[in-house]
Amino acid sequence: MGALHLEPREDDRPLSYWVQQTNPKVRLAKGREMRLQPEPWNPDVSVYWDPFGQRVLSMAIAELKPGGKSTWHRQLNESSMLILSGSGYTIANGQKYVWGPGDVLQIPIFMWHQHVNPGNVPVRYIRHGTVPFFKYMGIYREERLEPPPEGRHDDRRHEQPLGEVRLVPRSHWEPSGGEKVYTEGHHATYAPDAGIPHHFGGGYGVTKLLPGRFSALHRHWNEAIIYIFEGRGYTTVNEERVYWEAGDMVCVPLLFWHRHNTLGDEPSLYLRHTNTPLPQHLGIFVHQRRPEFPEENIPQLKDDFTPF
Ligand SMILES: [Fe+2]
Repeated sequence: MGALHLEPREDDRPLSYWVQQTNPKVRLAKGREMRLQPEPWNPDVSVYWDPFGQRVLSMAIAELKPGGKSTWHRQLNESSMLILSGSGYTIANGQKYVWGPGDVLQIPIFMWHQHVNPGNVPVRYIRHGTVPFFKYMGIYREERLEPPPEGRHDDRRHEQPLGEVRLVPRSHWEPSGGEKVYTEGHHATYAPDAGIPHHFGGGYGVTKLLPGRFSALHRHWNEAIIYIFEGRGYTTVNEERVYWEAGDMVCVPLLFWHRHNTLGDEPSLYLRHTNTPLPQHLGIFVHQRRPEFPEENIPQLKDDFTPF
């Protein structure tokens, strides 16, 4: 009888192999090159989806035309919207939620809702969700009612909605409101929590980088997409620098050391969209920081893949 020979399975490869399989590039979507396309099922809404192909998170820029309404719809994923410009309201669960620039609205999973723009200028907003994760699980659904039933302002199919609607005003994350300042040597940011809890997608956080400052060199075992509200600067991964300005989206690679830097005399303000809760629930969350690590030494870190 021959000796038992076990072929190594793909899963047996060291962690460093899998990390190297991820795209170690910072990826950038320029705001001025984003072309919004009309949604066939939502004639008043145009949208641009991020091109990053993340496994859990997605982000989009959407626009609701003046006097327009979205269709009544609900989607089986976590989602929030952050208003960039214009104002209007959303009807959900029998209530009207009025919003304007900087406000964040979270609609619970699978709750019927409709967005309305009663004004004469477009409403521009960020969509933030976990569509790729729910698609991967094979449970993603999106339903629309066309035409919506008369007077249907609540969700009668759900006696108990899967969460509450939350509306967080911009004042929650303005420098004047609830500001937490972190200073570590050359690095100073404030990072107010926008107060939107998610189970998979980490919700919103907003970071301000003061002029001439930079974030700590850090890495994390979670996906992250940032949206630049104000200012300009660059993000460093290994020896690579990607330059960004207001309106751009930046996607940093999983578990690679990176740092965000401001340029010019104005502070930078950016939205962080991460899936931090998911690795936290799985007990594998890693977030490491090296606040004072010199920029010129960052290329030396490129083979440093071991998180534990
Ligand atoms: Fe990061």
